[in-house]
Amino acid sequence: MGTSFSWALFVLSLFALSTFGNADTSPGLMMDFYKESCPQAEDIIREQVKLLYKRHKNTAFSWLRNIFHDCAVQSCDASLLLDSTRKTLSEKETDRSFGMRNFRYIEDIKDAVERECPGVVSCSDVLVLSARDGIVALGGPYIPLKTGRRDGRRSRAEVVEHYLPDHNESISSVLDKFAAMGIDTPGVVALLGAHSVGRTHCVKLVHRLYPEVDPALNPDHVPHMLKKCYDPIPDPKAVQYVRNDRGTPMKLDNNYYRNIMDNKGLLQVDHQLAHDPRTRPYVKKMAKSQDYFFEHFGKAIALLSENNPLTGDQGEIRRHCNVANKRNADE
Ligand code: HEM
Ligand SMILES: *[C@@H]1O[C@H](CO)[C@@H](O)[C@H](O)[C@H]1NC(C)=O
Repeated sequence: MGTSFSWALFVLSLFALSTFGNADTSPGLMMDFYKESCPQAEDIIREQVKLLYKRHKNTAFSWLRNIFHDCAVQSCDASLLLDSTRKTLSEKETDRSFGMRNFRYIEDIKDAVERECPGVVSCSDVLVLSARDGIVALGGPYIPLKTGRRDGRRSRAEVVEHYLPDHNESISSVLDKFAAMGIDTPGVVALLGAHSVGRTHCVKLVHRLYPEVDPALNPDHVPHMLKKCYDPIPDPKAVQYVRNDRGTPMKLDNNYYRNIMDNKGLLQVDHQLAHDPRTRPYVKKMAKSQDYFFEHFGKAIALLSENNPLTGDQGEIRRHCNVANKRNADE
């Protein structure tokens, strides 16, 4: 019995190797993966991101937030973009995804790529490259990123909380979650600099204002927050929010670090980042030097974008980013 058991294990591991260990047969992620198959791909995405940015500046915020919410949840597999099905609630419907917007515009980018090269470029690469180009539109650094990701077929709401920290999570737990992706402390501090753009809805803020104002908040910032979030229980249908960085709300810059050192960080994690002894030294450095911020931001975005991708013959190239391909449909 012992031998047949180990024999079974041996066969199983061979099977596992042949199924998942495709490192030898597939080149994995690489720079300019579509060089032969769709040489225009990266230019088309860049053009589309620029066009959309001209019409709706906030699309760039969404592309930046997308790379975190997709890649940090198991894999950059565009599972974030899938709609719920009759059986399963999708990632974008969870509380962690609250406030995410502009999903329909990512379809515009994908459609433009499909017109040039049908069925070649994955939604996960569209998501990652649009984040890269969105960062540039917001005044951030240009970050060279690999491509060759393939799309997952499932999106599961239940797993999201395990990977994405909550607005009030401890710094220890935030650092652990990013460390699992190979992102170190300065990397985490740099990534949170994304909160230098965009907005936070009052539902995520009222606990710092009511029943009494959180004494950690800068008293100069409180009247503005109270004016925007005048309702202790915000009407879920009313769009009530505070801008993350009142100074330069449309720019990805290091003003975020000055804000949080000044106790103007909106989320508890933002505030903690400036006060925890592990993260504070980096917050100070990034507040002083935009170059230092950008350097670590670029490295951390690259690591995030390479988190556990599907490559080779894993997954699929989705036709429409919000639904998995129909089985048996011709590829
Ligand atoms: C501890 C980690 C993080 C937590 C707890 C967190 C939480 C949040 C929350 C609660 C909001 C407000 C959503 C709303 O009310 O509409 C937000 C907005 C945003 N987050 Fe994060 N976030 C984290 C890390 C990141 C990272 C790593 C990025 C990107 C690299 C990012 C990018 C953004 C952007 C761009 C917005 C503004 C979105 C918009 O205006 O549409 N966040 N985040
Ligand atoms: C964080 O906030 C949520 C509500 O958004 C609350 O349910 C949870 O108990 C809070 N967690 C901590 C650790 O305070």
